Order: sequence, then structure tokens, then C-alpha cells
Amino acid sequence: MVIESNPSLQSYNSFGILARAQEMLRVSDIEELQEIVQTPFFKERAHLVLGGGTNLVLTGDVKALVLKVELKGKRLVKEDETGYWVEAMAGENWHDFVTWTLDQGWPGLENMALIPGSVGASPVQNIGAYGVELQDRFFELDALDLTTGKRFRLDAAQCAFGYRDSIFKHGSKRHPGDFASRVSALERPPDQRANAQRLLASSSASLPIDLNLGLANRALITHVRFFLPKKWRAVLEYQDLQKKCLMHSKAQPSAKEIYDWVCDIRREKLPDPQFIGNVGSFFKNPSVSSEQCKDIIAREPSLVHYPLLDGRYKLAAGWLIDACGWRGKSVGMAAVYHKQALVLINKGGAENPCTGGEVMTLARAIQTSVYERFGILLEPEPMIL
Ligand code: EPU
Repeated sequence: MVIESNPSLQSYNSFGILARAQEMLRVSDIEELQEIVQTPFFKERAHLVLGGGTNLVLTGDVKALVLKVELKGKRLVKEDETGYWVEAMAGENWHDFVTWTLDQGWPGLENMALIPGSVGASPVQNIGAYGVELQDRFFELDALDLTTGKRFRLDAAQCAFGYRDSIFKHGSKRHPGDFASRVSALERPPDQRANAQRLLASSSASLPIDLNLGLANRALITHVRFFLPKKWRAVLEYQDLQKKCLMHSKAQPSAKEIYDWVCDIRREKLPDPQFIGNVGSFFKNPSVSSEQCKDIIAREPSLVHYPLLDGRYKLAAGWLIDACGWRGKSVGMAAVYHKQALVLINKGGAENPCTGGEVMTLARAIQTSVYERFGILLEPEPMIL
């Protein structure tokens, strides 16, 4: 076991923020990790599980042992007349995995092409794009309990997936002051918190671990399995994809064509973190009651809104931020991306990067102005540490 002391985390967070960890351990062997977590060395340290670092804002040095997940491997677990069960280990790059499944002739993940990050992080925030969410293709995952070293398996219900949410984003209720709960201390609205707690309670019976402790930073995901049905159906409901169908005169595109279109759309709209530091959407799209939606439309007729199944409406956070005039504005080296107001960027690059403080000052100013104009409190999407 090699423990790196005081390593820089700049290349391990996609904002490119300068910060250091107290110590770092690269996890490439599950059995070795199982042994380590049971040692006094591990037990007396706070720890942080780090995947691709593409959904993380570092507001200072990380006073913890960072577990950098580098577990690699992918395979077909099973095939029958209904579909393919495909597995990837947590350290695999998400986009490479999507590309590989399509190359093998197993469609289903194409709408989620080019989402930055690792496979292990994908269930944590239930990634999604262009009408497909991870939970739509998810089968099960394996994880390691970092408090006991025991391995366990969760199905979709047990993961308590929600919009950019899962059991892995919810912290310990018993130890509110500990590091694990600080990691998950996002400003989550009370109704969502209650929903997650209800799901945790209803799913805990079949699990070998105590879910009341929460799984944020307590479980390290090792493997994720997906079910890709042979009865494949193109998901083309999103306007951007419908435009592509028209442009290419294709009513029935193949999975590979959708994959290429999604890559084009994302490259056009979103900054590539390899060149411009960012964490994708900085805020979640909020949902409001139909009364609140009508009330805003009366004042702002061009409001972008989508009906939800429960009678509420989803609003486009990017539109709300844009309407408040934030596009291109900055605080220090943190800025609002000029092509998409939902994305905050590091405009200083690796040489002169923004600080986490600048990002959060900008984010709070955006929250305040959107709240003052629309009465809506935007909730950050990334993990703020
Ligand atoms: N809009 C504006 N101004 C802006 C940005 C957006 O008016 O500056 C409007 C757009 O014109 C559009 C609407 O807002 O009518 C929605 O924008 P878009 O279709 O680009 O999608 P989004 O809601 O901004 C979400 C996800 C993305 C995902 C896309 C496509 C969230 C928080 N974001 O973005 O996910 O790729 O839909 O499915 O749900 C991510 O999570 O990091 C991410 C990039």
C-alpha cells in the first residue's frame, strides 16, 4: 500500500482548482482495500472517495485520506433473448464505457454519451441526458462498506434514485458533525430530504448494512451493472435530437447516429473540461407547483417549462440564470459560461485557476438574484467540499 502525502488535487478535479489532500491512496485492488479499511491507520482518518472529480467543488485543502478509485475492467456478464447484462468497474471512464458498449453492438447508453466522469460516480448522482437517466439502464451495483470492509450489492430500488440524486448523496443522520455528512451537506430542499429518507427506510430491510447511517462517503462503489434490452427503442423526445432528425432527414436513426448527434450537441453547448475547467450543470433544474409556474409565466411569458408526471413543472435553471443576465459574468477567475448559463467555468486555466471560494461566491450571487426575481432557490448539483 502506497500512501501519497500532501498530493495536489488540481488534476483530479475537473474545475482545475488548486487544492491538496492530506494523503491519497490509489484503489486498484478490492481485497487490498478491504484489509486497509480494517486497520487503525484507516479508522483514525477521515476519508473521501474520489472518482473522476467531475462533480466536485473544492473550497480548500481536503483534510482527509483521499481514496482515488482506479478499479478497471468491463465485461459482458450475461446475454439472453431479452438483452445484455454489462458490467464495468468503478474506475472506468464513463464515455469510454458507453463507446465500448456501442462498438460491441449493445445499444442503450447512447443518449448519455460524453458525460464526463467515471462509471463509479454515475449512480451517485444518477447521471442523465437527452431523455435517458442512468436508472433507466441500471441493473445493480457492488460496493464496499468503508466502516466494516464488507462488500454488498444494491438494486435500483435500494439505490433510491431521484433526479441527480441517490442514497450515495445522503449522509449520516447519527453523526451530523462528521466528515461524511459534511461531504453531502448540499442545500437540499426539505421535501427531497424527506423523500430520500422514506426510500432509505423502505429499502433497508433487505440490506446487510444499516442504511440509517447513510451511504455518502461511506460506501465505495466497485462495480456497476447495466441491463441493455435487445428490444431497443430510440429516445428522441428532446428538442435538440428532434432537430437533428429533421436536419438529417432521419425518422429512425441508429444508436450510433444518436451517439454521434449527442456528442455534437454537447461539444457545441458545453465546455470540454480538458480545456476549460467546469463541472457540467452547476444547479439542478428546479420543479415548481402548477400555480407557481402560472404565476411566473404571467410575469415572464417566455419561461422554459416542462410538465412533470405529478402535475408539477420542471423549469430550466439555465433559462432562469440567463434571464437574470448572468451569461459571461465573473467573480475573479470563476465565470458563467457564455454559451450556457447553467455552467460555471474556470476561466484562468491551470496557470491561474479560480478558487473554490470564487466559484461559491458566484454561485451564491446567482442563487440570490434568481430567488429575488422568481422566488426559486436553485440547488447546487455538484458536491461542495
Ligand atoms: N437555456 C437558456 N439559456 C441558457 C441555458 C439554457 O435559455 O443559458 C434554455 C435552453 O434554451 C433550453 C433550456 O434552457 O430551452 C434547457 O437547456 P438544455 O436543453 O441545454 O438543458 P439543461 O436543462 O440546461 C440538462 C441537464 C444536462 C443535460 C441536458 C440534456 C441538469 C441540471 N442538466 O441541462 O446535464 O446534458 O439537460 O439532457 O439536469 C449535467 O448534469 O452536468 C448536465 C450537463
